[in-house]
Amino acid sequence: MDINHSVIAITGAGRGLGRAIAQHLASQGAVLALIDVNRADLEVTEAEIRSRDGHCALFVCNVASETEVEATFAAVKEQLGALHSLINCAGILRDGMLIKVKEGELQEKMSLAQWQAVIDVNLTGTFLCGREGAALMAQGGQGGVIINISSIARAGNIGQSNYAASKAGVASLVVTWARELARHKIRVMGIAPGVFATDMTAAMKPEAMARMQQAIPVGTLGEAAQLAQTVQFILANDYLSGRMIELDGGLRI
Ligand SMILES: NC(=O)c1ccc[n+]([C@@H]2O[C@H](COP(=O)([O-])OP(=O)(O)OC[C@H]3O[C@@H](n4cnc5c(N)ncnc54)[C@H](O)[C@@H]3O)[C@@H](O)[C@H]2O)c1
Repeated sequence: MDINHSVIAITGAGRGLGRAIAQHLASQGAVLALIDVNRADLEVTEAEIRSRDGHCALFVCNVASETEVEATFAAVKEQLGALHSLINCAGILRDGMLIKVKEGELQEKMSLAQWQAVIDVNLTGTFLCGREGAALMAQGGQGGVIINISSIARAGNIGQSNYAASKAGVASLVVTWARELARHKIRVMGIAPGVFATDMTAAMKPEAMARMQQAIPVGTLGEAAQLAQTVQFILANDYLSGRMIELDGGLRI
């Protein structure tokens, strides 16, 4: 896919990895649909892109809401005319142990709300945006590329029942959609980042972060620009589909 002049929607574009992907693709000449639940953050991303003569439009949307996602993708079509690619990057963490037991007494358990909040944004949000994005690409007839941002945690991680399950879910959608959507010339790929320095990881406990950094074979956290480069690589290579790229400095066992 030629990135220059392509219309690319990015969820979670308000900050962190989504913003870095947006900045990078704008510098390659893409026309961006910036999607996020947080208007103030989106406006910062938009201003940064415009200050470098990039092209983008802003869409405030909760990806977990079917009506908002449907309206957003209809607005993308109306304002930008077509959709060539979608990067599903919006995500949240609500970490906690399944149960906490002290001296035989149950102290705490992961609430259904804590479970559901993460599943709603990370998994249902990816499903809804993927569905609407794929419909636009298929109807446009020009094909396209969908990239789901999963995580190293998809293999399972202590304290992350909700997050790990959601990220395993979006990884399975990569394979499912790649098989279903190939007939519409739509490729689907996933990226499983390890640990990147963003606001999301800044919220991790310092001791957990220190342990994590020590465990990374290359010795450093990932940089958002490295993820953005990987997105570019996937978009450009028309033979990549149905697979996950592990971008984790060797962290996955
Ligand atoms: N940072 C990491 O180390 C890391 C590692 C593996 C995977 N990831 C994944 O990469 C993605 C981006 O992570 P990040 O570190 O940039 O996080 P971040 O918290 O910095 O940014 C996430 C963005 O998603 C947006 N968002 C949250 N809920 C939303 C909703 N309901 N609707 C629309 N937008 C919503 C937020 O407003 C925010 O702008 C996430 O899917 C995350 O799970 C991150």
